[in-house]
Amino acid sequence: MIPLPMREIAPGAVHVPGWLTLDEQRHLVEACREWARGPVPIRHTVLPSGGVMSVQTVCLGWHWQPYRYTRVAHDVNGRRVADLPGWLAELGRRAVAGAYGHEMEYDPDTALINFYDGQAKMGMHQDKDERSDAPVVSLSIGDTCLFRFGNTETRGRPYTDVRLTSGDLFVFGGPSRLAYHGVPKVYPGTGDPATGLASGRLNLTLRVTGLR
Ligand code: SIN
Ligand code: FE2
Repeated sequence: MIPLPMREIAPGAVHVPGWLTLDEQRHLVEACREWARGPVPIRHTVLPSGGVMSVQTVCLGWHWQPYRYTRVAHDVNGRRVADLPGWLAELGRRAVAGAYGHEMEYDPDTALINFYDGQAKMGMHQDKDERSDAPVVSLSIGDTCLFRFGNTETRGRPYTDVRLTSGDLFVFGGPSRLAYHGVPKVYPGTGDPATGLASGRLNLTLRVTGLR
């Protein structure tokens, strides 16, 4: 399939369809499968409200739990999360350069890996637990989803609905770094099993925490 052209959705927010090759997607699926096993296994995050997120999450580098980062997963099994490998940070640098059209310093120190089954979704939120204003890099594999990218002021309109399909890259930084975004819907059965993912959707976000 010929990918759609890349598109700036909002200032600093760029969608690059079909950015990952099939080989890169396969490699990421395999790596995610391994990370999902541990040292901190993938799980549904429990929110302070008592609610349980429908996506399942595993983290690298830093462990995210609402609403902070720690090295150790106190809310899961008390183990330290796996390191973020150099090759993944490098992929993040290439992603930022690909989206913005120029090289820049980018050294992500955490990855949040989310798995969506056919029913999972994610409400509108800001990624604001980081202390750095470096961009967020998002990579999608598997089933297509509806990704809603909004504004920095409210959870509501104006927003732009984008379909993220397997291999797509989405980078949001600059004036869009704190824009609300969410995933209202996943379209089951739309992924290519050749990625190694028979069903569901994987999303990796790479971020700079600004923590040490
Ligand atoms: C997120 O906002 O952390 C995940 C977004 C996505 O799954 O595309
Ligand atoms: Fe997010």
